[in-house]
Amino acid sequence: MVAEVMEALRPRPGGRYVDGTMGGGGHAAAILEGSAPTGWLYGCDRDATAIEAAGGRLRPFAGRFELRQGNFAELASWVPAGSCDGVLLDLGVSSPQLDEPARGFSFQSDGPLDMRMDQGQGLTAAALVNETEVEALAKIFWEWGGERASRPLARAIARRRQERPFATTGELAALIERVTPRHGKRAHPATKVFQALRIAVNDEIGALERGLSGALRVLKPGGRLVLITFHSLEDRIVKVFGRTRARDYRAGCEADIPELREPQAPELRWVTRKALKPGTAELAENPRSRSAQMRVMEKV
Ligand SMILES: C[S@@+](CC[C@H](N)C(=O)[O-])C[C@H]1O[C@@H](n2cnc3c(N)ncnc32)[C@H](O)[C@@H]1O
Repeated sequence: MVAEVMEALRPRPGGRYVDGTMGGGGHAAAILEGSAPTGWLYGCDRDATAIEAAGGRLRPFAGRFELRQGNFAELASWVPAGSCDGVLLDLGVSSPQLDEPARGFSFQSDGPLDMRMDQGQGLTAAALVNETEVEALAKIFWEWGGERASRPLARAIARRRQERPFATTGELAALIERVTPRHGKRAHPATKVFQALRIAVNDEIGALERGLSGALRVLKPGGRLVLITFHSLEDRIVKVFGRTRARDYRAGCEADIPELREPQAPELRWVTRKALKPGTAELAENPRSRSAQMRVMEKV
Protein backbone atom coordinates (compact mmCIF):
# COMPACT_ATOMS: atom_id res chain seq x y z
CA MET A 1 0.00 0.00 0.00
CA VAL A 2 2.84 2.34 -0.91
CA ALA A 3 0.64 5.02 -2.57
CA GLU A 4 -1.76 5.10 0.40
CA VAL A 5 1.13 5.29 2.89
CA MET A 6 2.73 8.18 0.97
CA GLU A 7 -0.57 10.03 0.84
CA ALA A 8 -0.90 9.69 4.61
CA LEU A 9 2.71 10.54 5.48
CA ARG A 10 3.06 13.35 2.91
CA PRO A 11 6.88 13.24 2.98
CA ARG A 12 8.53 16.59 2.27
CA PRO A 13 12.09 17.92 2.04
CA GLY A 14 13.53 18.50 5.49
CA GLY A 15 10.98 16.15 7.11
CA ARG A 16 12.03 13.37 9.54
CA TYR A 17 10.43 9.97 9.32
CA VAL A 18 10.61 6.57 10.99
CA ASP A 19 10.09 3.20 9.35
CA GLY A 20 9.94 0.77 12.27
CA THR A 21 9.46 -2.28 10.01
CA MET A 22 12.00 -1.83 7.21
CA GLY A 23 11.64 -5.28 5.60
CA GLY A 24 13.14 -4.97 2.11
CA GLY A 25 13.03 -1.16 2.32
CA GLY A 26 10.27 -0.54 -0.26
CA HIS A 27 8.31 1.96 1.86
CA ALA A 28 11.52 3.49 3.21
CA ALA A 29 12.82 4.15 -0.33
CA ALA A 30 9.52 5.81 -1.25
CA ILE A 31 9.71 8.03 1.87
CA LEU A 32 13.30 9.05 1.07
CA GLU A 33 12.40 9.72 -2.55
CA GLY A 34 9.37 11.76 -1.52
CA SER A 35 11.38 13.82 0.98
CA ALA A 36 14.40 14.45 -1.31
CA PRO A 37 16.79 16.14 -1.16
CA THR A 38 16.96 16.77 2.60
CA GLY A 39 14.45 14.42 4.30
CA TRP A 40 15.77 12.01 6.95
CA LEU A 41 14.76 8.45 7.83
CA TYR A 42 15.31 6.43 11.01
CA GLY A 43 14.76 2.77 10.17
CA CYS A 44 14.71 -0.45 12.14
CA ASP A 45 13.77 -4.09 11.83
CA ARG A 46 14.23 -6.97 14.26
CA ASP A 47 15.62 -9.05 11.44
CA ALA A 48 19.31 -8.57 10.63
CA THR A 49 18.78 -9.98 7.10
CA ALA A 50 16.10 -7.36 6.44
CA ILE A 51 18.37 -4.55 7.63
CA GLU A 52 21.09 -5.77 5.30
CA ALA A 53 18.69 -5.97 2.34
CA ALA A 54 17.18 -2.57 3.11
CA GLY A 55 20.66 -1.03 3.48
CA GLY A 56 21.44 -2.16 -0.08
CA ARG A 57 18.17 -0.81 -1.44
CA LEU A 58 18.68 2.57 0.24
CA ARG A 59 22.24 3.04 -1.08
CA PRO A 60 21.12 5.81 -3.51
CA PHE A 61 19.99 7.82 -0.45
CA ALA A 62 23.27 7.48 1.48
CA GLY A 63 23.75 10.18 4.13
CA ARG A 64 20.02 10.64 4.70
CA PHE A 65 19.16 7.71 6.96
CA GLU A 66 20.17 5.74 10.04
CA LEU A 67 19.36 2.01 10.21
CA ARG A 68 19.45 -0.21 13.28
CA GLN A 69 18.64 -3.79 13.90
CA GLY A 70 16.12 -3.68 16.71
CA ASN A 71 12.58 -3.84 17.94
CA PHE A 72 10.29 -0.88 17.20
CA ALA A 73 9.15 -1.26 20.80
CA GLU A 74 12.44 0.50 21.71
CA LEU A 75 12.12 3.34 19.16
CA ALA A 76 11.87 6.08 21.75
CA SER A 77 15.22 5.03 23.26
CA TRP A 78 17.17 6.18 20.18
CA VAL A 79 14.93 8.44 18.09
CA PRO A 80 14.75 11.92 19.68
CA ALA A 81 11.42 12.72 21.35
CA GLY A 82 9.15 15.12 19.44
CA SER A 83 11.42 15.11 16.37
CA CYS A 84 9.51 13.27 13.66
CA ASP A 85 6.89 14.14 11.05
CA GLY A 86 5.80 10.58 10.45
CA VAL A 87 6.13 7.01 11.70
CA LEU A 88 5.23 3.90 9.70
CA LEU A 89 4.66 0.46 11.24
CA ASP A 90 3.86 -2.13 8.54
CA LEU A 91 3.32 -5.08 10.86
CA GLY A 92 3.75 -8.82 10.55
CA VAL A 93 6.23 -10.90 8.60
CA SER A 94 7.76 -10.18 5.21
CA SER A 95 7.67 -12.34 2.10
CA PRO A 96 11.41 -13.15 2.37
CA GLN A 97 10.78 -14.42 5.92
CA LEU A 98 7.74 -16.49 4.90
CA ASP A 99 9.30 -17.86 1.73
CA GLU A 100 12.58 -19.03 3.28
CA PRO A 101 11.95 -22.51 4.75
CA ALA A 102 15.00 -22.17 7.05
CA ARG A 103 13.21 -19.37 8.96
CA GLY A 104 10.49 -21.81 9.99
CA PHE A 105 7.47 -19.50 9.60
CA SER A 106 5.57 -21.56 7.07
CA PHE A 107 3.76 -24.89 7.09
CA GLN A 108 3.83 -24.88 3.28
CA SER A 109 7.45 -26.02 3.17
CA ASP A 110 9.40 -28.04 5.71
CA GLY A 111 12.03 -26.28 7.80
CA PRO A 112 13.25 -25.97 11.39
CA LEU A 113 10.52 -24.91 13.83
CA ASP A 114 12.03 -21.48 14.42
CA MET A 115 9.80 -18.40 13.67
CA ARG A 116 12.15 -15.85 15.24
CA MET A 117 12.16 -12.47 13.51
CA ASP A 118 15.34 -11.66 15.44
CA GLN A 119 17.58 -14.68 14.99
CA GLY A 120 19.69 -13.62 17.95
CA GLN A 121 16.74 -14.19 20.29
CA GLY A 122 16.82 -17.29 22.50
CA LEU A 123 13.19 -18.47 22.33
CA THR A 124 12.20 -20.45 19.23
CA ALA A 125 8.88 -22.01 18.22
CA ALA A 126 10.42 -25.46 18.85
CA ALA A 127 11.24 -24.52 22.46
CA LEU A 128 7.71 -23.21 22.96
CA VAL A 129 6.07 -26.30 21.46
CA ASN A 130 8.32 -28.78 23.27
CA GLU A 131 8.54 -27.12 26.68
CA THR A 132 5.29 -25.26 27.38
CA GLU A 133 2.76 -26.92 29.71
CA VAL A 134 -0.37 -28.21 28.03
CA GLU A 135 -2.79 -25.62 29.48
CA ALA A 136 -0.45 -22.71 28.66
CA LEU A 137 0.03 -24.04 25.12
CA ALA A 138 -3.75 -24.33 24.63
CA LYS A 139 -4.08 -20.73 25.89
CA ILE A 140 -1.57 -19.52 23.29
CA PHE A 141 -3.45 -21.33 20.49
CA TRP A 142 -6.78 -19.91 21.64
CA GLU A 143 -5.76 -16.34 22.52
CA TRP A 144 -3.35 -15.61 19.70
CA GLY A 145 -4.81 -17.89 17.02
CA GLY A 146 -8.50 -18.19 17.89
CA GLU A 147 -8.01 -21.96 17.41
CA ARG A 148 -11.20 -23.74 18.56
CA ALA A 149 -9.46 -27.11 18.96
CA SER A 150 -6.79 -25.54 21.17
CA ARG A 151 -7.03 -28.12 23.98
CA PRO A 152 -7.14 -31.33 21.88
CA LEU A 153 -4.24 -29.97 19.84
CA ALA A 154 -2.17 -29.06 22.91
CA ARG A 155 -2.83 -32.50 24.41
CA ALA A 156 -1.89 -34.27 21.17
CA ILE A 157 1.32 -32.22 20.99
CA ALA A 158 2.19 -33.14 24.59
CA ARG A 159 1.70 -36.86 23.87
CA ARG A 160 3.77 -36.77 20.69
CA ARG A 161 6.64 -34.74 22.20
CA GLN A 162 7.12 -37.33 24.97
CA GLU A 163 8.20 -39.79 22.29
CA ARG A 164 10.26 -37.30 20.29
CA PRO A 165 10.44 -33.50 20.48
CA PHE A 166 9.16 -31.52 17.47
CA ALA A 167 11.99 -30.26 15.29
CA THR A 168 10.36 -29.14 12.05
CA THR A 169 7.37 -27.19 10.75
CA GLY A 170 6.38 -30.27 8.71
CA GLU A 171 6.15 -32.50 11.80
CA LEU A 172 3.91 -30.01 13.59
CA ALA A 173 1.72 -29.32 10.54
CA ALA A 174 1.26 -33.09 9.97
CA LEU A 175 0.16 -33.66 13.58
CA ILE A 176 -2.30 -30.75 13.40
CA GLU A 177 -3.73 -32.11 10.17
CA ARG A 178 -4.20 -35.54 11.80
CA VAL A 179 -5.99 -34.10 14.85
CA THR A 180 -8.08 -31.54 12.92
CA PRO A 181 -8.44 -32.79 9.33
CA ARG A 182 -9.15 -30.24 6.63
CA HIS A 183 -12.58 -31.65 5.59
CA GLY A 184 -12.70 -29.52 2.46
CA LYS A 185 -11.89 -26.22 4.22
CA ARG A 186 -9.87 -23.74 2.18
CA ALA A 187 -7.37 -22.77 4.88
CA HIS A 188 -4.76 -25.30 6.01
CA PRO A 189 -5.69 -26.63 9.49
CA ALA A 190 -2.31 -25.44 10.84
CA THR A 191 -2.94 -21.77 9.91
CA LYS A 192 -4.18 -20.62 13.33
CA VAL A 193 -1.66 -22.54 15.41
CA PHE A 194 1.21 -21.22 13.29
CA GLN A 195 -0.08 -17.65 13.65
CA ALA A 196 -0.41 -18.10 17.42
CA LEU A 197 3.10 -19.51 17.78
CA ARG A 198 4.60 -16.71 15.69
CA ILE A 199 2.87 -14.06 17.80
CA ALA A 200 4.04 -15.72 21.02
CA VAL A 201 7.64 -16.35 19.91
CA ASN A 202 8.06 -12.72 18.84
CA ASP A 203 5.91 -11.18 21.60
CA GLU A 204 4.16 -9.31 18.80
CA ILE A 205 1.32 -7.96 20.91
CA GLY A 206 3.58 -6.62 23.67
CA ALA A 207 5.91 -5.08 21.07
CA LEU A 208 2.99 -3.37 19.33
CA GLU A 209 1.64 -1.88 22.57
CA ARG A 210 5.07 -0.49 23.49
CA GLY A 211 5.75 0.55 19.89
CA LEU A 212 2.57 2.63 19.64
CA SER A 213 3.40 4.59 22.80
CA GLY A 214 7.00 5.08 21.63
CA ALA A 215 5.85 6.23 18.18
CA LEU A 216 3.60 8.86 19.72
CA ARG A 217 6.53 10.06 21.84
CA VAL A 218 8.90 10.57 18.88
CA LEU A 219 6.30 12.40 16.76
CA LYS A 220 6.02 16.20 16.61
CA PRO A 221 2.56 17.72 17.05
CA GLY A 222 0.93 17.32 13.62
CA GLY A 223 3.13 14.28 12.89
CA ARG A 224 1.38 11.20 11.55
CA LEU A 225 1.36 7.57 12.62
CA VAL A 226 0.53 5.09 9.85
CA LEU A 227 -0.26 1.51 10.82
CA ILE A 228 -0.76 -1.49 8.58
CA THR A 229 -2.11 -4.53 10.41
CA PHE A 230 -2.60 -8.08 9.15
CA HIS A 231 -4.81 -9.74 11.74
CA SER A 232 -7.66 -8.80 14.03
CA LEU A 233 -5.58 -8.95 17.24
CA GLU A 234 -3.18 -6.29 15.95
CA ASP A 235 -6.03 -4.25 14.56
CA ARG A 236 -7.86 -4.30 17.90
CA ILE A 237 -4.77 -3.01 19.73
CA VAL A 238 -4.44 -0.18 17.20
CA LYS A 239 -8.13 0.75 17.51
CA VAL A 240 -8.09 0.70 21.32
CA PHE A 241 -4.89 2.79 21.37
CA GLY A 242 -6.37 5.35 18.96
CA ARG A 243 -9.68 5.52 20.81
CA THR A 244 -8.09 5.91 24.26
CA ARG A 245 -5.52 8.52 23.24
CA ALA A 246 -7.99 10.56 21.16
CA ARG A 247 -10.30 11.02 24.17
CA ASP A 248 -10.50 14.23 26.16
CA TYR A 249 -10.78 12.25 29.38
CA ARG A 250 -9.11 9.40 31.19
CA ALA A 251 -11.37 6.58 32.36
CA GLY A 252 -11.25 6.33 36.17
CA CYS A 253 -11.52 2.54 36.02
CA GLU A 254 -11.57 -0.25 33.46
CA ALA A 255 -15.35 -0.10 32.98
CA ASP A 256 -15.22 3.62 31.99
CA ILE A 257 -18.01 4.88 34.25
CA PRO A 258 -18.84 8.50 33.19
CA GLU A 259 -18.90 9.79 36.82
CA LEU A 260 -15.34 8.57 37.38
CA ARG A 261 -13.80 10.16 34.27
CA GLU A 262 -10.96 12.64 34.68
CA PRO A 263 -10.38 15.32 32.02
CA GLN A 264 -7.19 15.13 29.96
CA ALA A 265 -5.94 16.72 26.75
CA PRO A 266 -6.29 14.34 23.76
CA GLU A 267 -2.92 13.14 22.49
CA LEU A 268 -3.99 12.35 18.94
CA ARG A 269 -6.79 12.59 16.40
CA TRP A 270 -7.87 10.03 13.85
CA VAL A 271 -7.07 10.86 10.22
CA THR A 272 -8.37 7.52 8.90
CA ARG A 273 -10.37 5.75 11.55
CA LYS A 274 -12.09 3.37 9.14
CA ALA A 275 -9.48 0.96 7.80
CA LEU A 276 -8.23 1.40 4.23
CA LYS A 277 -7.75 -1.87 2.32
CA PRO A 278 -5.57 -2.65 -0.70
CA GLY A 279 -7.09 -1.90 -4.10
CA THR A 280 -7.82 -4.51 -6.78
CA ALA A 281 -4.56 -3.89 -8.64
CA GLU A 282 -2.45 -4.44 -5.50
CA LEU A 283 -4.43 -7.57 -4.57
CA ALA A 284 -3.80 -9.00 -8.04
CA GLU A 285 -0.09 -8.26 -7.79
CA ASN A 286 0.35 -9.31 -4.16
CA PRO A 287 -2.36 -11.70 -2.90
CA ARG A 288 -0.73 -11.73 0.59
CA SER A 289 -1.89 -8.15 1.05
CA ARG A 290 -5.54 -9.32 1.19
CA SER A 291 -5.77 -9.05 4.98
CA ALA A 292 -3.92 -5.71 5.22
CA GLN A 293 -5.74 -2.80 6.90
CA MET A 294 -4.30 0.68 7.16
CA ARG A 295 -5.22 3.29 9.79
CA VAL A 296 -3.77 6.76 10.30
CA MET A 297 -3.55 8.99 13.38
CA GLU A 298 -2.09 12.47 13.94
CA LYS A 299 -0.42 13.70 17.13
CA VAL A 300 -2.08 16.85 18.47
C1 LIG B 1 5.43 -6.61 6.26
S1 LIG B 1 7.16 -6.52 6.51
C2 LIG B 1 7.55 -4.86 6.12
C3 LIG B 1 7.79 -4.60 4.67
C4 LIG B 1 8.33 -3.21 4.38
N1 LIG B 1 7.37 -2.18 4.72
C5 LIG B 1 8.76 -3.07 2.95
O1 LIG B 1 8.45 -2.05 2.32
O2 LIG B 1 9.48 -3.96 2.44
C6 LIG B 1 7.28 -6.55 8.23
C7 LIG B 1 8.68 -6.42 8.79
O3 LIG B 1 8.55 -5.96 10.12
C8 LIG B 1 9.49 -6.57 10.93
N2 LIG B 1 8.99 -6.49 12.29
C9 LIG B 1 7.87 -7.06 12.80
N3 LIG B 1 7.73 -6.73 14.10
C10 LIG B 1 8.77 -5.92 14.41
C11 LIG B 1 9.17 -5.25 15.60
N4 LIG B 1 8.48 -5.37 16.75
N5 LIG B 1 10.27 -4.47 15.55
C12 LIG B 1 10.99 -4.33 14.40
N6 LIG B 1 10.66 -4.98 13.26
C13 LIG B 1 9.57 -5.75 13.26
C14 LIG B 1 9.64 -7.96 10.36
O4 LIG B 1 10.89 -8.52 10.70
C15 LIG B 1 9.47 -7.71 8.86
O5 LIG B 1 10.71 -7.53 8.24
